[in-house]
Amino acid sequence: MGVGPGDPQLLTVAAVKAIEAADVVAYPVAREGAEGMAAAIAAPWIGAGQRRLPLLFPMVTEAEPRIAAWHAAADALAAEVAAGQEVVLLCEGDVSLFASSSYVLMALRQRHAACPLRLIPGIPSACAAAAAASSQGLAWPLALQQEGLLIRPTPDGAAELEMLLDRSAQEGTVLALLKLGRRWHWVRPLLEARGLLEGSLFAQRVGWPDQSLAPASAVPAEEQPYFSLLLVRQGWPAVLP
Ligand SMILES: C[S@@+](CC[C@H](N)C(=O)[O-])C[C@H]1O[C@@H](n2cnc3c(N)ncnc32)[C@H](O)[C@@H]1O
Repeated sequence: MGVGPGDPQLLTVAAVKAIEAADVVAYPVAREGAEGMAAAIAAPWIGAGQRRLPLLFPMVTEAEPRIAAWHAAADALAAEVAAGQEVVLLCEGDVSLFASSSYVLMALRQRHAACPLRLIPGIPSACAAAAAASSQGLAWPLALQQEGLLIRPTPDGAAELEMLLDRSAQEGTVLALLKLGRRWHWVRPLLEARGLLEGSLFAQRVGWPDQSLAPASAVPAEEQPYFSLLLVRQGWPAVLP
């Protein structure tokens, strides 16, 4: 289930009810002993009597350890369900957008096809960022009229980002670029050269007490936290209020 981007108030009613009904609350962690972002977000809704089940998903690029982790997570969850436990797996943001839970879902389907499951969507970080910005007076509709919206990771290199910006300008597509933090130091000058800084939104730790939303021009070209994203709008429809 998706737990939204940070604020516990942004869990859906369905998500809260599912957590309350669970015997076991599972959640991803990147290291043994870590708290896990999704578990931190849902913490106010998890009871002291509920068993916690951290699932280790190492942040590595090699395929083998990642596949092994998805299989191990699917096996652990299926074993709990087979033992009669009501289980929820928490996922930061939405459950179907760049989420470890998507791989666990596929592994469950392959390895434990009879295991019953239900997905509960969550509020994606890009949608929460747009709403938070608009609430602060930075009007940020994500898509209007014939515009498209592309939510994707920030490209790894400048040439790819240049092509993406050209294409989205031609097509009238708004970009939501995730996984921005480590790339921001070279993304910023590229946007500046195109005159796009003022109209782009830099959103950091949306929904957390230290949330920060600002025109991209206000954010220095330094490495930024992992939980940062950029919204880029290169034009507006002709007919507006
Ligand atoms: C693995 S993706 C997870 C996306 C998530 N499932 C969603 O629905 O938004 C992680 C990236 O999402 C973005 N992100 C997630 N939560 C965020 C938040 N609270 N504030 C800003 N960016 C966030 C960041 O760009 C981060 O690098």
